[in-house]
Amino acid sequence: MLSGSKISLATFEREHAQKTLTWLNDTELCKFLGRTEPISQAEQEIWFELLKGKKSETLFFAIETTDTKEHAGNVWLHGIDTKNAKAEVRIVLDPKHSGKGLGVEALSLIKQYGFEWLNLHKLTGYVLSFNLPAQKAFEKAGYICEAVLTEERWSNGRYVDLHVFSSIRGR
Ligand SMILES: CC(C)(COP(=O)(O)OP(=O)(O)OC[C@H]1O[C@@H](n2cnc3c(N)ncnc32)[C@H](O)[C@@H]1OP(=O)(O)O)[C@@H](O)C(=O)NCCC(=O)NCCS
Repeated sequence: MLSGSKISLATFEREHAQKTLTWLNDTELCKFLGRTEPISQAEQEIWFELLKGKKSETLFFAIETTDTKEHAGNVWLHGIDTKNAKAEVRIVLDPKHSGKGLGVEALSLIKQYGFEWLNLHKLTGYVLSFNLPAQKAFEKAGYICEAVLTEERWSNGRYVDLHVFSSIRGR
């Protein structure tokens, strides 16, 4: 387990899947995550079972608060590509835990995990242009905005730019 001062990254267990479902069906969070379709309980259970078999491609962690051990969010590596030693970083926090710096710490810890444990070379995060908290959180965690892809995503009735944040091992 990786620990910081405010949070730890814990193995993602069945108990974490239920709370995750409420976040994935939260319409405000969905805008930031680029999701449009609601997810049912049955779909979530299938997803959790499949996740166990996909650890070489997707590594999920539950973000737990250090003091109360509360499940505050998830951070994960998606599309782990061992040939090119790269992966995408994704994150979601329970809204009641946002604004306290937990996201910055989780993005730093997953970077440490990706570089030191998985020997990855590059981590990338994709953030919609209107998602200023996520852009700041990636920057504060040491990722650099290396590109802005113009009108890359359709979101809430309009095309929006996508900011590409990355971190290279050792830089
Ligand atoms: C993105 C996310 C992980 C950020 O984590 P967090 O712990 O809430 O981060 P913080 O609240 O510490 O905010 C980071 C910075 O954004 C700033 N911020 C917050 N709301 C803001 C706003 N509306 N406009 C501009 N800046 C804002 C904060 O002030 C902070 O900067 P500071 O430390 O210099 O004051 C979290 O908000 C989240 O889960 N959002 C929904 C899902 C999502 O967007 N995921 C990212 C897609 S990859």
